[in-house]
Amino acid sequence: MERIAIFPGSFDPFTIGHKNIVDRALPLFDRIIIAIGVNSAKQPWMPLPERIDAIHFVFADEPQVEVDSFSGLAVDYARERNARFLLRGVRTCADFDYERNMADANRMLPAGKDIETILLPALPEYAAVSSSLVRELARFGAPYAHLLPYTNHHPYTNLIT
Ligand code: PNS
Repeated sequence: MERIAIFPGSFDPFTIGHKNIVDRALPLFDRIIIAIGVNSAKQPWMPLPERIDAIHFVFADEPQVEVDSFSGLAVDYARERNARFLLRGVRTCADFDYERNMADANRMLPAGKDIETILLPALPEYAAVSSSLVRELARFGAPYAHLLPYTNHHPYTNLIT
């Protein structure tokens, strides 16, 4: 049976920290589906099609990686995609508390009982990198391109720097 992991997140935007989690998780799984959770009540910083496009660009040479979006519960989406694993990165103790609660909540859902959450600790150099930090820097006109894995090459750079 293929080992498929869903890497769910808002990825608003996808950072070098997210990329590092995917890179390090690749040897663990046959396939990783980076799944952008869509919350229609919230206005994103980066529009969904551009987030998808940017992540595609980052993993263009990586056939094990797929990019998709979902609405609803992550475990329902995982079931739909025949994925038995949810992958999440953990930077801090606060992250760990939150992620453990989420993993427990997901396990209690009917669709989640056979889905295992795999938590990967962020490397120290990425511990302070987050999408919200990027958005905050952008808000103040401060540089943030160094936190994004695609800004040096991607045409979309022009729109967000
Ligand atoms: O990167 P984020 O913002 O922490 O990602 C949040 C996301 C999209 C992964 C999370 O909100 C999510 O999984 N939403 C779907 C609803 C769900 O399954 N919630 C957990 C059980 S209540």
